[in-house]
Amino acid sequence: MTTDALKDAFFKIYGGDADPIFVRSPGRVNLIGEHTDYNDGFVFPMAIEPHVILAARARDDDKVIARSTLFPDKPVQFSLTQPITTGKPAWGNYVRGAVAMLKAKGVPLVGMDCLIANTLPPGGGLSSSAAMEVGTSRAMLALAGETMDSLPLALLCQKAEHEFAGVPCGVMDQTIVAAGKAGHAMLLDCRTHTPTYAPLGDDVTVVVVNSMAKHSLADGEYAKRRKECETGVAYFQKVDPKVIALRDVTPAQVNAAEKALGDLTFRRCRHVVTENERCLAFAEKLKAGDYTAAGELMYASHASLKDDYEVSVKELDFLVDTARTLDGVYGSRMTGGGFCGCTVSLVKPAAVEKFMADIANIFQAKFGKDPVRFATKATDGAGVIGT
Ligand code: GLA
Repeated sequence: MTTDALKDAFFKIYGGDADPIFVRSPGRVNLIGEHTDYNDGFVFPMAIEPHVILAARARDDDKVIARSTLFPDKPVQFSLTQPITTGKPAWGNYVRGAVAMLKAKGVPLVGMDCLIANTLPPGGGLSSSAAMEVGTSRAMLALAGETMDSLPLALLCQKAEHEFAGVPCGVMDQTIVAAGKAGHAMLLDCRTHTPTYAPLGDDVTVVVVNSMAKHSLADGEYAKRRKECETGVAYFQKVDPKVIALRDVTPAQVNAAEKALGDLTFRRCRHVVTENERCLAFAEKLKAGDYTAAGELMYASHASLKDDYEVSVKELDFLVDTARTLDGVYGSRMTGGGFCGCTVSLVKPAAVEKFMADIANIFQAKFGKDPVRFATKATDGAGVIGT
């Protein structure tokens, strides 16, 4: 939806004369470094072109009213002067959570009328929830004439996700959505919350393919993986009290502890510690323009997520295996939390069109579904894009 069309729709719903502001909030894809963020490790995401756009205008009372073009008959409404709690419709919890966290921080807020449109599919594993949280926060701050740096804003939105969406996520998604930079991926040290921006050359293209898989246990499985990592940390802490997170443990230490950890905890820990190494190596290879080596690290990441961390599904495995057989592909892997969602592939620009057509045909022949796919550049993080 264009901003003009969104503006028309906004006026139809809310009336009045004053123009709304527009906030664009992107989705994200993670190139490598999966399930490492909540282990104080490293991740390498970028903000992508698909996004949510919010048209927002200040009200002269204390009400926040938000509507989504995806759920036109399910508006969200609450008061800034009453305690903000979770409720129905469920999509509104991203709005409620973001506003509640700003309020708890003592940011002076004003009421808002808001209409939200997506080019980012909700539930597609591209961080539509973080895009909603960060986008809502940016809109509320702008309407109140307040500012906040992207990194503290990301932490606040992570808290909103924990408390209002009930997902004990790490810090990656909200950070890249808030602080992405056009033309760059971000190597993020999740312990110090320090981003380093890495330029992405024009000689390589990032392609996202949706597995169209659904998995109802996904949320529970995510929390379970976090617990399994904590079990590993508890073991290593007994051996070395300086260990705070799996970030502090080396692959050699994990290998040496195989028996003591037991098979499941061993494999979970091995994924995390080797994935941290792959993420850092990937950043180096990308910098050197060695896309073949970077791509191999992506395949290795996928294998580790599949076999050791057990968060992949057959559709994702099939997409990665297929990508390996197609021309011009450097590497491919599942991206995000897993169980559903997308793969990310690094592809030679000249091969992109054929790659997307071929992988869609092969996937369709196997699963009977046409997978959503797109090539994307890295974009800026969330911000006001005008009136
Ligand atoms: C989800 C979470 C992130 C991260 C990834 C896995 O996207 O929101 O914090 O843990 O899964 O890397």
